Amino acid sequence: AVRLRVREALGAREPAGEVKVQGWVRSVRSQKEVLFLHINDGSSLENLQVVADPSLENRDLTFGSAVEVQGKLVKSPHRKQNMEVKAETIHVVGPCDTWSFPLKTKERHPLEYVRQFPHLRCRNNTLGSLLRIRSEATAAIHSFFQDNGYVHIHTPIITSNDCEGAGELFQIEMSNEARESAEKTHFFNVPAFLTVSGQLHLEVMAGAFTHVFTFGPTFRAENSQSRRHLAEFYMVEAELSFTESLQDIMQVMEDLFKTATNTVLSKCPRDVELFHKYIAPAQKTFFFFPSCRISYNEAVEILKQASQTFTFKPEWGCDLQTEHEKYLVKHCGEIPVFVINYPYNLKPFYMRDNEDGPRHTVAAVDLLVPGIGELYGGSLREERLPFLESRLQRLGLTDAYQWYLDLRKFGSVPHGGFGMGFERYLQCILGVDNIRDVIPFPRFSHSCLL
Ligand code: 4AD
Ligand code: MG
Repeated sequence: AVRLRVREALGAREPAGEVKVQGWVRSVRSQKEVLFLHINDGSSLENLQVVADPSLENRDLTFGSAVEVQGKLVKSPHRKQNMEVKAETIHVVGPCDTWSFPLKTKERHPLEYVRQFPHLRCRNNTLGSLLRIRSEATAAIHSFFQDNGYVHIHTPIITSNDCEGAGELFQIEMSNEARESAEKTHFFNVPAFLTVSGQLHLEVMAGAFTHVFTFGPTFRAENSQSRRHLAEFYMVEAELSFTESLQDIMQVMEDLFKTATNTVLSKCPRDVELFHKYIAPAQKTFFFFPSCRISYNEAVEILKQASQTFTFKPEWGCDLQTEHEKYLVKHCGEIPVFVINYPYNLKPFYMRDNEDGPRHTVAAVDLLVPGIGELYGGSLREERLPFLESRLQRLGLTDAYQWYLDLRKFGSVPHGGFGMGFERYLQCILGVDNIRDVIPFPRFSHSCLL
């Protein structure tokens, strides 16, 4: 017998003699003359209908059990599906204790409920669709960069620097057991951390390849229980050499969003539809346009003139809080908003000095989107040696960043780049409220299940 995935069986043009289908039972309906099963194997949101003689029914054939069905692939008489399988044999590979199985047949479980079962929730429709979309989106992002001449770089997960300088680091240490047999306190001789961003390593590579990107796990010890923060998340980062304007960076940010989103919509329309229909019915699929652009200075003026009172009073020089971001997006008409040129003292050492004043700014750009807030963060980088030297000096970081200063001595060019939170991107296109529902195994403060 030919082994078929559910997706292949459903999409088949012609009936076929001997086929074999393997998967998990999503429903069992037994009538006097016929037994109906629905089988899912993760290849599509739709289940495959199996029709069998009631004599094939057995005690173990329940919701949740793993089965192997052999039979004929035939045209289905039902209008809703193309093909179905007429079973000759049904073998229960792994029975399921339906009583204690936390997922129930026919129920649309709330996302908060299935979140308690990270080892089982992938067998639920919503998480199934989400994970297929996540997989397609990952491929789409890689294609976007590869198609546009970027080189993919595996930036390290273990690093000795704090790129963002925010101190939100997880430090790496040997287990007590391992330390006993080792002589050194630090395995690497220096303190080592999980990366908060691959940017600095990308900047190294942009000095040879001009266009580079990385897409990997990123770690932040932010003590936040918010619906948009994780301790482990995925970040898409790009770095472009010979780039002198923020406009060029913003263009890539926009193109990446549009291209990836279009690909996801065309590759898994049914999965996306599930979210737009049941999870976020109010969500309009948006393709990024139109968007608006304001400076940080303008943003602060808008906030100061707002009739609304904020928990954090808007003040030039202060970071934009979630409530501020929300207001700005609303003020601009619930469309994506680029905010550019942030205060010098608010941003990391690597951002390019705009040499303005008295309100001193750097060439930074954040993209705020409806429902989420900050989706992207980027900037032009300081490529001028004297500027960088004096800034690092003032921060007491000169020794640590000698290699970074070297990059400005050996063929330095104007360059810039950005990072996009991949989970926030998924939240944004699907309208998912909580970031814990768009990653297979969420990690956040006080929770590391499995
Ligand atoms: O704005 P961030 O901190 O930028 C950087 O790290 C730059 N070095 C990137 C670069 O220019 N190469 O982070 C980038 C994005 C944020 O806009 C946000 O979408 C996401 O990463 N992000 C998080 N997502 C989930 N959980 C967290 N704790 C996140 N922190 C940042
Ligand atoms: Mg940021």
